[in-house]
Amino acid sequence: MIGEHDVLVVGAGCAGMRAAIAAFDAGADVAMISKLHPTRSHSGAAEGGINAALGNAAEDSPELHAYDTVKGSDYLGDQDAIELFTAEAPGDIIQLEHWGAFFTRREDGRLAQRPFGAAGSPRTVFAADITGHVLIQVLYEQVCKRDIKVYEEFFAWQIAVNDDRAQGVICWDLLNGGLKTVRGKTVVMATGGAGRQYRATTNAYACTGDGTAMALHAGLPLKDMEFMQFHPTTLFPSGILLTEGCRGEGAFLVNKDGERFMQRYAPNALELASRDVVSRSEQTEIDEGRGINGSVMLDMRHLGPDRIIERLPGSRELSMTFAGVDPIFEPVPVRPGAHYHMGGIETGNDGETELTGLYAAGECACVSVHGANRLGGNSLMETITFGRRSGTAAAEWALSHTTSDVPESLERDAERSLRELLDRESGERPWKIRDELGQSMLENFGVFRQEEKMLRQLEILADLRERYRSVYVEDKGQVFNSDLTQAIELGNMLDTALCMIEAGIWRKESRGAHARPHDYPTRDDANFMKHSITRWRGDGVELSTSPVRVTKYEPEERKY
Ligand code: FUM
Repeated sequence: MIGEHDVLVVGAGCAGMRAAIAAFDAGADVAMISKLHPTRSHSGAAEGGINAALGNAAEDSPELHAYDTVKGSDYLGDQDAIELFTAEAPGDIIQLEHWGAFFTRREDGRLAQRPFGAAGSPRTVFAADITGHVLIQVLYEQVCKRDIKVYEEFFAWQIAVNDDRAQGVICWDLLNGGLKTVRGKTVVMATGGAGRQYRATTNAYACTGDGTAMALHAGLPLKDMEFMQFHPTTLFPSGILLTEGCRGEGAFLVNKDGERFMQRYAPNALELASRDVVSRSEQTEIDEGRGINGSVMLDMRHLGPDRIIERLPGSRELSMTFAGVDPIFEPVPVRPGAHYHMGGIETGNDGETELTGLYAAGECACVSVHGANRLGGNSLMETITFGRRSGTAAAEWALSHTTSDVPESLERDAERSLRELLDRESGERPWKIRDELGQSMLENFGVFRQEEKMLRQLEILADLRERYRSVYVEDKGQVFNSDLTQAIELGNMLDTALCMIEAGIWRKESRGAHARPHDYPTRDDANFMKHSITRWRGDGVELSTSPVRVTKYEPEERKY
């Protein structure tokens, strides 16, 4: 044991840092655990902005934001959580601004807001196209100001559950080696997403679903795991994100004939339809032979150099560096790529989970404000609003309860499993299994799904998981053993992928990001307007459901 705190936050992106700040401000002794330096967390890669109904660019209200979010979620979002989210978002933006977030401003001095997909009003607050980078810096400054302890380059591996309570986390110390236990009266999981399960993704190498897998292995329910969002504009071939802000500023999507094909799929919203709709449209163009080298083109030339340089400097730089194209002069090749996992650890509105003392926020959690399809700009906002709520709730529980305790037997069990992995002298290398996972998930569980392919993916996963049992870690060292951590990450990705496929097979309808045009082409509210719940049982998945919480938005046909 190397530390004991009231609140232990796992993950140091926007959700984790916002939770830690809130817990500290509520009076708790707080620490964070992160496998990266906090400012290298993947939240820093968020580009286009963060949604709040400030009404600076046009009339807007939290109610309109809630309606757009419910509709965007294809009526799977929990409406009480969405209403609370949209009501609290404006105050959270003002707080960030007071902390020094230098958002782009209008001529009249108020915060600028740009249009984003499926939004009834321009409500995305932004800092050019580096919004996540700005927020991460601002939050880290607040963490430093409060002198919050960060166990940096600590790889969280297992939640320590004792007396039916989360009481700490068992970690691998990346810098010095060795298993270390950090105790907390409460634990907040804020470990981000799992996009690395896919070969084509906007996600950083660190996004391997560790926290989701830790919760799964600790017996917690995961919700709506079948819903992986594909972002419509990821650079070909690298998969790096080109922000929706490009389309918000007016960029067009064109096919090989130069046609603005979104006119055929979403005649009103065009390029600013919801992400599931735009990604499906692009994929259809590509599949039907109207793409170019597996891509369509994002054309910004008509925006002119001044607007591109002022509003989209990062997108220009990424296009030039990674696609060799300057968008001022040429269209950029883009295609859909895995971007955001709507599913995750099931939580209530304060981040509380089924396990006493365990909370979750951000992409690893499913509260659920995104349902079957998230709106662009809502995830950064979710990290802040639900990060804050989780941190406050975790602090309140910790401050009114007893000390934490992690029995030595738990540490010994973890040590034994680790030794077993490290002592193996031969076997298959993790990278090979990881490559096959990424490729097969893209082929069989991508923008479009069908029974046959999902069943095929189940077989592939069974094979990959079997081979994983004898995975071989070549590096036996203690210092920065990335061979070891990649092997552990791979196990996390394989188990969470299994939950995704099982839930996908169960959901016999098309809703949001789960599109089954060949076998179940329409939404089926009578049978499937409910959440999927997956739990780990033995060495596999048990499936059940839970109801969607509806307040006032009755399901309607979704058109853009
Ligand atoms: O396109 C983007 O800038 C991404 C935003 C988001 O995922 O919310």
